Amino acid sequence: MAIVKCAIDLGIADALHKNGGSMSLTELASSLKCPPSSLYRVMRFLAHRKIFKLSQTSQSTLIFAETPLSRRLLSQGKNSMAAFIQLECSPVMLAPWLCLNNRVQEKGVSAFDAANGEDVWSYASNNIAHSKLINDAMACDARVVVPRIIKEWPNLFDGVSTVVDVGGGDGTASSMLVEGFPWIQGINFDLPHVASEGLPCERVQHVGGNMFESIPKADVAFIMWVLHDWGDDECIQILKNCKEAIAKDKGKVIIVESVIEEDAKDKFEDARLMLDMVMLAHTTNGKERTFKEWSCLLNKAGFGHFDVNPIEAVQSVIVAYP
Ligand SMILES: C[S@@+](CC[C@H](N)C(=O)[O-])C[C@H]1O[C@@H](n2cnc3c(N)ncnc32)[C@H](O)[C@@H]1O
Repeated sequence: MAIVKCAIDLGIADALHKNGGSMSLTELASSLKCPPSSLYRVMRFLAHRKIFKLSQTSQSTLIFAETPLSRRLLSQGKNSMAAFIQLECSPVMLAPWLCLNNRVQEKGVSAFDAANGEDVWSYASNNIAHSKLINDAMACDARVVVPRIIKEWPNLFDGVSTVVDVGGGDGTASSMLVEGFPWIQGINFDLPHVASEGLPCERVQHVGGNMFESIPKADVAFIMWVLHDWGDDECIQILKNCKEAIAKDKGKVIIVESVIEEDAKDKFEDARLMLDMVMLAHTTNGKERTFKEWSCLLNKAGFGHFDVNPIEAVQSVIVAYP
C-alpha cells in the first residue's frame, strides 16, 4: 500500500492520463522530475502488480501505460480512490497495525487507542485535518457504491419522501441519493464537527448530533459503513434509534455493509476479509459480519425481517423492516 501511496504522491497516474495514457520511462521521469533509475524500480513493481502496464518498443524503449486500476489513483474524478489510500497510509492509521496484538488478545485497549491514545472518532473530533482525511476517503467509496445502488436497485426509495443518512460523513452519499431518486429530500446526519463541514446541496440538510442519543425523523434511515465500526451492543442501540426515527407505516432501514460468506468465491471476498482486519486495527469493537451475525443483530434490535440485496461492490444492501 505504501508503494501505491508513493505513486499517488508522485502523480504517476495523473501524468500518464494527461499524456493520453502512456509515456516512455524517460518522458515520465522528466515530467515527474525524478531520476529514471528509482522510478523504473517503482514502476517495474507496480506493473508486476498490474497497476500499470509495461511494454517495450522495437527500439527497446520502455513504455508505461495506464490501466483501469491506475485510473483509481488519479487525484480527481468519480472513480478515484486516492483519498482512501492517503487515509489508510496516514501515520495515525498505520500505527495501530503495529499494536494489533492488543485487540486480538483483548487486553482492554484497542489497537487504535494503544497507538494514538484515544478512539478513532474522538481522535478525529480533536484533529480536524484527520477528520477531513476520513471524510474525503469515505466520499471516495460513496462515489463508487451509491451509483451502483441507484443502478441496481432503482425501486429502493419508491413511495419514500425523506431519508436520513446516519453517519453520512460530508454528505456525498446523500447528495447522490437525492440526485438518483429526485423525489426524495435528504438529511445528512453526523457528529457536529462533521455535519458542519457538509457539502452544500439543495435538497440535503446537514444535521449534527449523536446517533447513540437520537436520530432525526425521516421515512427511511440509510446507514452505510457505520455499523461495522461498532460492537454488537452499540449496533443494537444505533438500530433501535434508527427504528425510532423512521415512519411507522412505510419505514425501513437501509444498511450498506459487507456480508461475509465463510465459503464465498466472489471477487470481493478478499476485500471483505481485509476490511475486517481494518476494523480490528482501527475500531474498538467493530467487525465485518456474516449473514448469521446480521440476522442475530437485527433480530435483537427489533426488526421483524430483512433482505440482503447484493450489488457489484464489497458491500450489500440490507433492507431491514420493523
Ligand atoms: C466510516 S464513516 C462512514 C461515512 C459514510 N456513511 C460513508 O460511507 O461515506 C463513519 C461515520 O460515522 C460517524 N460517526 C461516528 N460516531 C458517530 C455518532 N456518535 N453519531 C453520528 N455519527 C457518528 C463518523 O463521523 C463518520 O462520518
